[in-house]
Amino acid sequence: MKQLSDNQLFKTSSFIDGKWHKGTSTFEVLNPANNQRVANVFNADTTETALAVSAAKNAFTLWSKKSANDRAILLRRWFDLIIEHKNDLAKILTLEQGKPTAEAIGEITYGAAFIEWFAEEGKRVYGDTIAAPSNDKRILVIKQPVGVVAAITPWNFPNAMIARKAAAALAAGCTFVVKPAALTPLSALALAELATRAGIPHGVFNVVVGEDSVGMGKVLTQHPDIAKFTFTGSTFVGKKLLTQCATTVKKVSMELGGNAPFIVFEDADIDAAVEGAIVSKYRNAGQTCVCTNRILVQQSIAEQFTQKFAKAVKKLTVGDGFIEGINVGPMISTAAVDDVKQLVRLSVDLGAKILVGGSIDDQGDKFYQPTILTNVTNDMPIANNEIFGPVAPIITFDSEEEAITLANDTEYGLAAYFYARDIGRVWRVAEGLDFGMIGINEGIISNAAAPFGGVKQSGNGREGSKYGLDDYLEIKYLCMGGI
Ligand code: SIN
Repeated sequence: MKQLSDNQLFKTSSFIDGKWHKGTSTFEVLNPANNQRVANVFNADTTETALAVSAAKNAFTLWSKKSANDRAILLRRWFDLIIEHKNDLAKILTLEQGKPTAEAIGEITYGAAFIEWFAEEGKRVYGDTIAAPSNDKRILVIKQPVGVVAAITPWNFPNAMIARKAAAALAAGCTFVVKPAALTPLSALALAELATRAGIPHGVFNVVVGEDSVGMGKVLTQHPDIAKFTFTGSTFVGKKLLTQCATTVKKVSMELGGNAPFIVFEDADIDAAVEGAIVSKYRNAGQTCVCTNRILVQQSIAEQFTQKFAKAVKKLTVGDGFIEGINVGPMISTAAVDDVKQLVRLSVDLGAKILVGGSIDDQGDKFYQPTILTNVTNDMPIANNEIFGPVAPIITFDSEEEAITLANDTEYGLAAYFYARDIGRVWRVAEGLDFGMIGINEGIISNAAAPFGGVKQSGNGREGSKYGLDDYLEIKYLCMGGI
């Protein structure tokens, strides 16, 4: 167990209506780097989930009536406390999720940035007046918070995916119930502790932690008192949750899977492309929805790019995220490693070649070596599935049109990246790619000011940016007559 400067941040029970709820049973949280137990966490169930919903419903009356300024003051305090405690929060994050310390600190500041951003953005919710069809009427549009928001968040960003949703919800005047992944509940609970210290009123921010994902998920998607549901996770699970939300016609936003192409054209700055591919492929051990999934390289520069890329990949260090200088930590579970192994094996059987890596690292069973596969085609399993691991398949192409066709040949549409210098090409490709977010000569695109979200089966809605509040607001039309 790592020493924290503030041990009160290490919480192990659900946070409902401003209180910590101990239950009767517990579940274990493990450190993926060494499989050691980090905590026994009290297991909340459907009853506690419903309790959290009713706390959020009661709190909504007062929270929604606070001024945007008053909400901003509390959110800003929450942000300040998160930044003040970022090293402790990063330790908790690495303990339960595995990512290297530098990345964990990066995630804490990334998550906090959404709270800072939306604290201010909440003050900029504008309505409208519209010319009426007759002179005795006036038409106005106001925006109001949707109500209670429920969220289910993933293990790959145990802090930031909660902060990104909660910040927008709370700034808009909504109250919030989140169920974080059972693999990584501790970061969420630490956020709750800091929310309460910031003075965010009881019932406004609730966290339910438990292993009954199906049961708790049903409450959060079907409870009539929940107005909006938001999810970050796989497309497979997202589709099920969407169906459940249909029973009460909830407003939904979904941030689902991706299959990001990373295209390198012959006019690219190849060194910059290598650098971009390294960060966008291997951060978080390849476990992000916006991670590069396929590298498409123009045939004329394929050899040059591949050699430079392989040299950079061989330099990546694998190990426990707490060790200084480690670049690639463990994957979250042995099941996740098995999925990656299977995709590599099936693709090698079809003709792919392992250039670098290709097996479990001697650091332990959850460490998969940073890997490059060449001789890959777009129809191989490694290219048409979301890998969610540190494997980079390289596919070659001849023309710009072919690159766009290959890139778009997927049911996903979250992020895409390309490297090129020709300005005409930059516009043609940016407009031709069917993805919600495009990195142009850039491998890291996530930040609080930008609209994060996908098209096609990668989901709907946008998080962050000035657009991020829309998902938590209803438009109300007022028609004044008799004038
Ligand atoms: C995700 O993987 O779901 C989010 C990644 C990011 O925010 O950059």
